[in-house]
Amino acid sequence: MNKDIYILAIETSCDETSMAIIKNGTEVVSNTILTQIDTHKSFGGVVPEIASRMHTESILMVLEETLEKSIIKIEDVDAIAVTYAPGLLGSLLIGIECAKTLAMIYKKPLIAVNHTVGHIYANNLEHKMEFPLLALIISGGHTDLVYMKNDYDIEFLGSSIDDSIGEVYDKVARVLSLPYPGGPSIEKLAKEGQATYNLPKSMMKDSYDFSYSGLKSSIINLVHNEKQRGSEIRKEDLASSFQEVAVEQLLRKTEKALTNYNAKQFILAGGVSANKYIREEMNKLCQKYNIPFHVPELKYCTDNAAMIGAAAYPLYKNNKFADYSLNGSSNENIKIYFEKFNQE
Ligand code: KG4
Ligand code: ZN
Repeated sequence: MNKDIYILAIETSCDETSMAIIKNGTEVVSNTILTQIDTHKSFGGVVPEIASRMHTESILMVLEETLEKSIIKIEDVDAIAVTYAPGLLGSLLIGIECAKTLAMIYKKPLIAVNHTVGHIYANNLEHKMEFPLLALIISGGHTDLVYMKNDYDIEFLGSSIDDSIGEVYDKVARVLSLPYPGGPSIEKLAKEGQATYNLPKSMMKDSYDFSYSGLKSSIINLVHNEKQRGSEIRKEDLASSFQEVAVEQLLRKTEKALTNYNAKQFILAGGVSANKYIREEMNKLCQKYNIPFHVPELKYCTDNAAMIGAAAYPLYKNNKFADYSLNGSSNENIKIYFEKFNQE
């Protein structure tokens, strides 16, 4: 029988300090997520320096709690995994330094995980990923569509050429004076409204790329003009109109991929995939093409270390270890990551 593999994973790329112990890449033994949202809320968004300071303050407490909740001792884990990119550099470095220190003291291999790849592997915590599959990653930092032929064998299809969908949810919420993070606020408000505002659809017909800056600007201008005219904005209707147009683009590109690629599954990932409207619409689309639809449970959609442990497992199996010179990278997106990965 194969020995069980336990990975201690660390995630500090943005405003969640999180650690987890994952068994065989699929089973969560222990998972702790400490979110800083309440602190950043008062600033209307994540303040990078405050995020770094808060990670420093709490990272060892998060480690203690994760180990306390676990049946596995740190001496018995097989590897230490950490998110090294993309994200806020100061925040990433705190997780990386902690991971290196633990790897050195306890003589464990170190595994460097790309955060966006982590979001995809969150799906393995519930349903086994079956290849080939199509994955759409929608988060605060990214909007990426990929075709996965196997573990870490990715064909990149497209991504946003400007703002990510999550960024635009957050921006629109801000313009409407709704609390941070904007995604859940807009989703709630949109349920009470009707899509009565006429907003521009992004075209880019022949590509798998997305674009959200036009939609963002049109909403900023609309709100500005209505204010100048002294007219009242129907916030619920604007939230609903925004959501419909933003999601239409996701559906259109996904439908094109479902038509052109042979996939056993379609998986949704990233913080924005917590959105019920998006889940329902994507599910309907997959039903039309008779392709199983999977999305992680809510707590594994937004940032967490469990998904980093899941993504680290195939790297562990293939002896893809990092050395102590591991550094952070704020902008190494999934496309750059796989270009490098395939060259190694
Ligand atoms: O994956 P994530 O936690 O962090 C990044 O890797 O970026 O995603 C955070 C993003 C934020 O933009 C937040 O507004 C959005 O996910 N989000 C949502 C929902 N919950 C979180 N967007 C739409 N609807 C939601 N329910
Ligand atoms: Zn994320």
